[in-house]
Amino acid sequence: MKPFEKLLLENKAWAKERVLDDPEFFHRLENIQTPEFLWIGCSDSRVPANELTGTNPGEIFVHRNIANLVVSTDLNLLSVLEYSVVYLKVKHIIVCGHYGCSGVKAAMTTHSHGIINKWLRNIKDVYRLHRDEIDADSDPEHRTNRLVELNVREQVFNLAKTSIVQKAWKQDQRPELHGWVYGLNDGILKPIFHMGPDSQIDPLYTFDNLV
Ligand code: CO
Repeated sequence: MKPFEKLLLENKAWAKERVLDDPEFFHRLENIQTPEFLWIGCSDSRVPANELTGTNPGEIFVHRNIANLVVSTDLNLLSVLEYSVVYLKVKHIIVCGHYGCSGVKAAMTTHSHGIINKWLRNIKDVYRLHRDEIDADSDPEHRTNRLVELNVREQVFNLAKTSIVQKAWKQDQRPELHGWVYGLNDGILKPIFHMGPDSQIDPLYTFDNLV
């Protein structure tokens, strides 16, 4: 059997199991999804949103990219954000990074990685902001992991800077923004940062004419 054929076979077994457990499972999800959470995570195959949170299909709306970045000009991210906040009315947005992130590691080097340089530039900018603190630690692994945490916090700030989030905060008192970091070595999610609808952000980034 070819590896991809195994995926199709496993899928049949999974679907069968679901129906055995709950005959209405697929019917219920066929026409409606009402997730409470938007997950913005790293594309890393070891950090699957549903599995590590014990959630089912229908419970988390997911966007993943390299190093879980919230880039203000990324049409893909912005479309996911607007759809989930405005239409699905998610109550929580989780930015989830992970220790040992290869994207973060790569951004800390001077090695060229081709087109991905343009993406990693966003992480280099976070590194520059916190360079003194990060470089004060002599252990390379600690330095990477500190940048992983600071990067997550910066991406939560980036969410708060969008008109999409500011409008929802003003009108609906939601969503709450969470910054978490996942440990590849222990499977544990660590909350490191939080912003609620009443949070103050730098006035430079606050829109005063949102309707
Ligand atoms: Co990663």
